[in-house]
Amino acid sequence: MKKSEVNLGFGCFFPGTEREQVTEILLQALDAGYRYFDTASFYFTEEQLGEALRQSKIPREDVYIATKLWISERGYDAANAALERSLTRLGLDYVDAYLIHWPKGPDPDEDWISLDIATWQAMEEQKAKGRVRELGLSNFLPHHLQPLLDAGYQPVINQLELHPGYGQEYAVAKSLEQGMQVQAWSPLGRGAVLDHPLLLELAAKYGASVSQICLAYLKQRGIFPIVKASSLKRMQENLAFTAVKLTAEDISKIACLPQIGYSGEHPDDSMPGHK
Ligand SMILES: NC(=O)c1ccc[n+]([C@@H]2O[C@H](COP(=O)([O-])OP(=O)(O)OC[C@H]3O[C@@H](n4cnc5c(N)ncnc54)[C@H](OP(=O)(O)O)[C@@H]3O)[C@@H](O)[C@H]2O)c1
Repeated sequence: MKKSEVNLGFGCFFPGTEREQVTEILLQALDAGYRYFDTASFYFTEEQLGEALRQSKIPREDVYIATKLWISERGYDAANAALERSLTRLGLDYVDAYLIHWPKGPDPDEDWISLDIATWQAMEEQKAKGRVRELGLSNFLPHHLQPLLDAGYQPVINQLELHPGYGQEYAVAKSLEQGMQVQAWSPLGRGAVLDHPLLLELAAKYGASVSQICLAYLKQRGIFPIVKASSLKRMQENLAFTAVKLTAEDISKIACLPQIGYSGEHPDDSMPGHK
């Protein structure tokens, strides 16, 4: 499955949800028609995703599975071992995409550049062995991306926090300039943007839900959204966002909103709980 064939990714970060329930939700997402799944070693949902895939009996080549290595899994040997663990948990012999989850750890992380480069080298070798199809990044701002480019590497994905009220315009532009697919994590700002008056007004205007407005906005800006939902109704509602076509004026209004719904997670900050 090529990622260019899908409009929406399904997020597999389910903090606080019971294991069995996560498997059920993922099975429901497969039933609803999702084919792109975004997980990470840090989410502790790789096993449940593998289980849901097996139960669904959907052929492997019809789904796109992306996972990520965590901050503590950076480095040449650590990255090789991390991918093996992820593949074992997923029960797969390859993943479609493998991403470095964050460019650096909490301060001090003085060796982050050499660690990222060594990680990437391992990832390239895994790609050559067929264990990974595509290589990408997550939360890499231009100054985190540049050392990899300087080393001659070409990531194809950059996943960033992006939603109405948090545009990271410069990082998006630089990633697109490099020919990377830009993906939006928390495209609904984890629900925090859903009651914004402008978005409510646009939802009424287009006869859509606010979540559909958020997803259409990102897609029309050339960004691939990855959304998480726990009920079939929301999964279907989100998938139906493609019916919404925003005017250039409405896109501009959303793009010019002041900051709302920011997670507080920044790759250059010391992030509590992200060791
Ligand atoms: N790379 C990174 O560092 C990073 C960081 C965070 C997330 N991610 C990825 O991005 C994915 C999505 O991000 P996220 O889960 O943080 O946030 P999100 O997708 O923006 O928002 C999820 C929240 O919105 C609710 N929701 C979903 N659809 C809705 C609808 N149609 N109407 C109303 N509410 C709706 C969900 O509720 P219910 O679940 O109760 O339905 C959940 O509370 C994650 O699962 C993960 O795969 C990546």
